[in-house]
Amino acid sequence: ALAAADRATVRALWKKMGSNVGVYATEALERMFLGFPSTTTYFLHLDLSLGSAQVKAHGQKVADALTLAVEHLEDLPRALSALRHRHVRELRVDPASFQLLAHCLLVTLARHFPGDFSPTLQASLVKFLSHVISALASDCR
Ligand code: HEM
Repeated sequence: ALAAADRATVRALWKKMGSNVGVYATEALERMFLGFPSTTTYFLHLDLSLGSAQVKAHGQKVADALTLAVEHLEDLPRALSALRHRHVRELRVDPASFQLLAHCLLVTLARHFPGDFSPTLQASLVKFLSHVISALASDCR
């Protein structure tokens, strides 16, 4: 599990983001689709143009899942088990793609919270995101 200091750091940033988590998740998706075009192959049924309402709606879903994760840092595998099934078994998302989204989330947060984004905060976020990814992207537990 995540160390207490990392949990506190991540919770504090989430509090600071308030109701804007969806805005940042949407920006991260836009960065992922533009920077790593192979990731768009999973979303051919959506309008992926910049500013798309569909990407915004999807960004809000991703944001809500991340917020749920922040609220269940002690037990991510259980909290995210339905989403893991969806991504691994149904959507068959390549595990490597999760790292690309995590990278884009970090870039987005660094841009919006430049004063907070110390190496320590980055390290806590990297650990948080890797816990989320191992709960979401690994097959069958
Ligand atoms: C759907 C979260 C990473 C592809 C979803 C949904 C959530 C979610 C909450 C909606 C589930 C539902 O409607 O049942 C996340 C989180 C991620 C992540 C928290 C990582 C931090 C990825 C990645 C990809 C991906 C890396 C592919 C590059 C999809 C697709 C859908 C989906 C294709 C279905 C979209 C649709 O048809 O509307 N994701 N996801 N996800 N996700 Fe993810």
